Amino acid sequence: ARITLRQLLDHAAEHGYGVPAFNINNMEQGLAVMEAAATCDAPVILQASRGARSYAKDLMLARMIDALVDIYPSIPVCMHQDHGNDEATCMTAVRHGFTSVMMDGSLEADAATPASYDYNVEITRRVTTIAHWVGVSVEGELGVLGSLESGEAEAEDGHGASGTLSHDQLLTDPDQAVDFVMRTRVDALAIACGTSHGAYKFTRAPDGDILAMGVIEEIHRKLPNTHLVMHGSSSVPQALQDVINRFGGEMPQTYGVPVEEIERGIRHGVRKVNIDTDCRMAMTGQFRRIATENPAEFDPRKFLKPAMDAMRDLCRDRFERFGTAGNA
Ligand code: G3H
Ligand code: 13P
Ligand code: NA
Ligand code: ZN
Repeated sequence: ARITLRQLLDHAAEHGYGVPAFNINNMEQGLAVMEAAATCDAPVILQASRGARSYAKDLMLARMIDALVDIYPSIPVCMHQDHGNDEATCMTAVRHGFTSVMMDGSLEADAATPASYDYNVEITRRVTTIAHWVGVSVEGELGVLGSLESGEAEAEDGHGASGTLSHDQLLTDPDQAVDFVMRTRVDALAIACGTSHGAYKFTRAPDGDILAMGVIEEIHRKLPNTHLVMHGSSSVPQALQDVINRFGGEMPQTYGVPVEEIERGIRHGVRKVNIDTDCRMAMTGQFRRIATENPAEFDPRKFLKPAMDAMRDLCRDRFERFGTAGNA
């Protein structure tokens, strides 16, 4: 059945677990997440970026979600717009059956053009007002994501760096978060706490203190009824890098957010954990492996099935480690 983000995360908060939100843009990724959820009885957040929607076409995604919900009747599914940039993006998502939208009013902000806080409040409040009329949840975002290691804020597209910020500027201010939530009435809030999007988060193995647990804990304490969201939560596992590089890939060595750190974040109040890069890498590793091991192969399914299985296994691991498993 379809449920809203508010319904799902209220349950997660009550029972102290986190929920991975997996980005999807095609059938194989949708099936991988649902298959994983079905094997461990986990509720699901599927999310589509603007890029995903234009890649797959809105109608294709919408009908696919209908099908996934029907194929797995016992799994609660929240369909979420990832990084909506304006009212139109959010409302066309609602029109296509999404039960939750992210209005990311921090998108235009980076180190070069500092956040317009008023703009973020205004546009997010407009989206929340309308979405709540029709029973759709809203996630807002406050802060500039970036690596605490390098001090680099990520560029608007989430790739590369746009400039260097101080430690404080890369963390969401708890008091501003309280003001933001009071004025926008968002159900969930994405915060900057040391993560960044993409595969290249850290250049050295994180030493166990890469996330600002104190900031997470303080925001959670001041906003107990607002569900905290951690973007950029891929772990970029060494094993996935190794598969890609063993079969002809040339990904430079990199480090993501260790799963143990995410588990700590969940204990400090994080409820929604956004993961895209790890799924992409799980699939791509299998594409490369099949292409290398069986160069005569030309049936796409022979590539897509192992890729789907690898993504399913990754998703299942996150459902289990975040405590999502058993809560469908
Ligand atoms: O936050 C961005 C997500 O990883 C989606 O990426 O815009 O390339 O679909 P995308
Ligand atoms: P990753 O790039 O770490 O997977 O983050 C994805 C994300 O935050 C989507 O909104
Ligand atoms: Na931001
Ligand atoms: Zn994100």
